[in-house]
Amino acid sequence: MDIGTGSGKMLEILFNEKNVYSAGTDTNKDMLKEAEEKLRNTSAKLHLIPAGEKLPFEKGSFDYVTVCSVLFHLKEKEIDHLLMGSLQVLKDAGRLIVLTPTGKGNMIKLSKNFFSLKNKSIFIWYRATKKRALIWSMNQYLKQFAANNKLKYKSQIVMHGFAQLEIISK
Ligand SMILES: C[S@@+](CC[C@H](N)C(=O)[O-])C[C@H]1O[C@@H](n2cnc3c(N)ncnc32)[C@H](O)[C@@H]1O
Repeated sequence: MDIGTGSGKMLEILFNEKNVYSAGTDTNKDMLKEAEEKLRNTSAKLHLIPAGEKLPFEKGSFDYVTVCSVLFHLKEKEIDHLLMGSLQVLKDAGRLIVLTPTGKGNMIKLSKNFFSLKNKSIFIWYRATKKRALIWSMNQYLKQFAANNKLKYKSQIVMHGFAQLEIISK
């Protein structure tokens, strides 16, 4: 399950590369409309779930829960609610995988490794999220959350230093 799936890119990759059953949630119906278009020919299921509401899945339904570029935008109460909900729907041997931009690097490196200089929206997004991303990496919120809840935690810097991958398991 991909929480905060936005336009559904993660679910598209999962379907094309792994062909697994997947579900996506988001709080924003316009984003889910975009995702619906993209995922029309896949088996992915999309769910509109307002912030703070319970996920509509049985306990232990998923092997993996992914959360990409979502948590670092949110307030602590919402982060904790989202994390607790994820852990509930995760199988005992499952993994919660969180990807967040680090806010590090620079435009030249970004365009060299990932995007054409013509893609202005990426640069706007990079600049707009840089500060929050730096705060997220400095605070180590997930590491602390894992310690407080007696969970296992691993972290790795990926994507040429542009993103941090954090993995939590029970
Ligand atoms: C920056 S976008 C990332 C979209 C997608 N995960 C990606 O990496 O392309 C953040 C998404 O999280 C959604 N979101 C914000 N708060 C949320 C919450 N509490 N639960 C689920 N989704 C949330 C937003 O509506 C938005 O679509």
